[in-house]
Amino acid sequence: MTCNILVGGGWGDEGKGKCITYLCYNDKPDIIARAGVGPNAGHSVEFNGEKYGLRLIPSGFVHRDARLLIGAGVLVDPEVFLYELDYLKKYRVAERTFADYRCSIIEPEHKERDKASAHLSKKIGSTGTGCGPANADRVGRVAKMAKDVEVMQGHTANVPLEVNEALDDEQYVFIEGSQGFGLSLYYGTYPFVTSKDTTASTAAADVGVGPTRVDDVIVVFKSYITRVGEGPFKTEMNQEEAEKMGIEEYGTVTGRRRRVGLFDMDLARESCMINGATQIALTCVDRLYPQCERVTEYSKLTQETKRFIDEIEGETGVPVTIISTGPDLKDTIDLRDELL
Ligand code: GTP
Ligand code: IMP
Ligand code: MG
Repeated sequence: MTCNILVGGGWGDEGKGKCITYLCYNDKPDIIARAGVGPNAGHSVEFNGEKYGLRLIPSGFVHRDARLLIGAGVLVDPEVFLYELDYLKKYRVAERTFADYRCSIIEPEHKERDKASAHLSKKIGSTGTGCGPANADRVGRVAKMAKDVEVMQGHTANVPLEVNEALDDEQYVFIEGSQGFGLSLYYGTYPFVTSKDTTASTAAADVGVGPTRVDDVIVVFKSYITRVGEGPFKTEMNQEEAEKMGIEEYGTVTGRRRRVGLFDMDLARESCMINGATQIALTCVDRLYPQCERVTEYSKLTQETKRFIDEIEGETGVPVTIISTGPDLKDTIDLRDELL
């Protein structure tokens, strides 16, 4: 039995999509379960020269035999859900993707409220995807659940039952989080955060797995930090500097330019502590250190890159087991065997 959770260590967009794709394609979990807030996420998956931008369907879909589940804690926008089932039809996702029957539904009115609220759309800089208002309605106990809406018929399941029975049967369950530690409603830079906690404990609760059943927590960090939306950002640099370093970025969902800054050891330490991290996945090392582009062996990394990795391990006390050197799943150094 194995139950692993992957979450973001920064303000989202750490490259979780890439890491999930790599881990699921290689390790072949029986169930890949999506946790996190909802379709405010934009995961990028690059595989075999194809590029996908996903908001709701688990990024591990490239592993064709996995059952793809969406936990009860995740908000479902049926428009996005049905669009992605069609978008990924080549991967036969419609027949293996199910949302928990208790998922809250995002209705058009939630998106309107999100965009019309100056507090959410301007002060916080929300994604406008209706997540905040839908979570508020769940707390107010007026939200609809997936089982209540016609379009979700045939697409629902009892996710915790499936996940826990799979674990009883010695199967492998992979839980993918979304957003990142700095956006947690409790531990992030409140009020400039998302509408829910984003740490590993909540990811487990989202899919209905108790803390005693979790084996590994993989926290993903990018080699620099990006942030979209408003809020404090201690290590932020100006856009000119970011361009000079070649690390400017634009959002997957909103197309907004991402704010950019240097890696923040204090944030990484706190993020590892509160997530109970057992492993770190470090992405975009090729963007910070271009000589590392597409390198797949640790020994071929530059000394400077190795020093950076050693520093992260020293400061956090957590081993860096996955090093991502490009957006495709092949551009990966996997050091997990060295842990054994
Ligand atoms: P959220 O769920 O929205 O938090 O996003 P995410 O963590 O899945 O990250 P997102 O895909 O939004 O952004 C990461 C970007 O970096 C994408 O464009 C990826 O294709 C890209 N990427 C991921 N890993 C690497 C890497 O190691 N090198 C390079 N060059 N690009 C990478
Ligand atoms: P909301 O989650 O749409 O309410 O947005 C609240 C804040 O979280 C804003 O700063 C968004 O930019 C940020 N945010 C939400 N989801 C993501 C994500 O997946 N990646 C990066 N930022 C996000
Ligand atoms: Mg993203």
